[in-house]
Amino acid sequence: MAAAIIDGKAVAAEVRERVAADVREFADSHDGRVPGLATVLVGEDPASQVYVGNKRKQTEEVGMRSIHHGLDDSTPEDELLELIAELNADDGVDGILVQLPLPDAIDQDAVVAAIDPGKDVDGLTAGSAGLLAQGRPGLVACTPQGVMELLRHAGVEVEGAEAVVVGRSILVGRPLANLLLNASATVTVCHSRTRDLGEVCRRADILVAAVGAPRMVRGDWVKPGAAVIDVGINRTDDGLVGDVDFEAAKEVAGAITPVPGGVGPMTIAMLLSNTLRAATARAAAAATASA
Ligand code: GUN
Repeated sequence: MAAAIIDGKAVAAEVRERVAADVREFADSHDGRVPGLATVLVGEDPASQVYVGNKRKQTEEVGMRSIHHGLDDSTPEDELLELIAELNADDGVDGILVQLPLPDAIDQDAVVAAIDPGKDVDGLTAGSAGLLAQGRPGLVACTPQGVMELLRHAGVEVEGAEAVVVGRSILVGRPLANLLLNASATVTVCHSRTRDLGEVCRRADILVAAVGAPRMVRGDWVKPGAAVIDVGINRTDDGLVGDVDFEAAKEVAGAITPVPGGVGPMTIAMLLSNTLRAATARAAAAATASA
């Protein structure tokens, strides 16, 4: 039997509706103030411009405030660090998103480290990643959260499952491995040096591909009935394709995400959810401080 196709567009729309309702409630209980998300884009990479444009548009659609800073790609690092410091100090800014990758001349780690952990809606700072690794509450990277939401929606049992994550990036592979571990899966993380990748993947009840290599995960790497989550978005001559050979894998899997329309739409939905969460935590901290 062919796999159930997991509809990320529909799940993302549900998340956005929930966030929009919660934003209205937040405004009602905070004198009309709405959460604010600051986006920072350095340079003019066309794909990044599209991503940031979509983030800004959807921020406003759920009733939050979008504050954007577009900087020239020759912007010196200290100028970017100064902007981050200003956004950290700005009470109307609840979340800060610096679009990656940054130009080579800028130290990405230093910029990420400068973000106030309370406004780290990408979950990228060492503090956020550390809390997640310890299974403690904090802001969690958006795409991995989106993957967990899709698994929940598809009714996939995570507890006790064999989960294999292909990819070890700080944006996806590592935080996702920790989320799966925190949900009591048995987690294996694979990467470019993994021996016999196909053999490891065939063990997976939950198989996640997040490497950025078109159709690398083959149909015969999929265990029959497995949930297959494809995080890859690769531009090829055939159009957008994922990291999984979808046509072959869908004949074997129990459930699978398509590309496009699977994980992609979830990332921004979870960013909006994180921004609301950051605003709520900051408002509660401010109320405690003034009590
Ligand atoms: N570049 C590609 N994906 C992302 C993301 O989720 N956050 C940021 N900041 N940059 C990205």
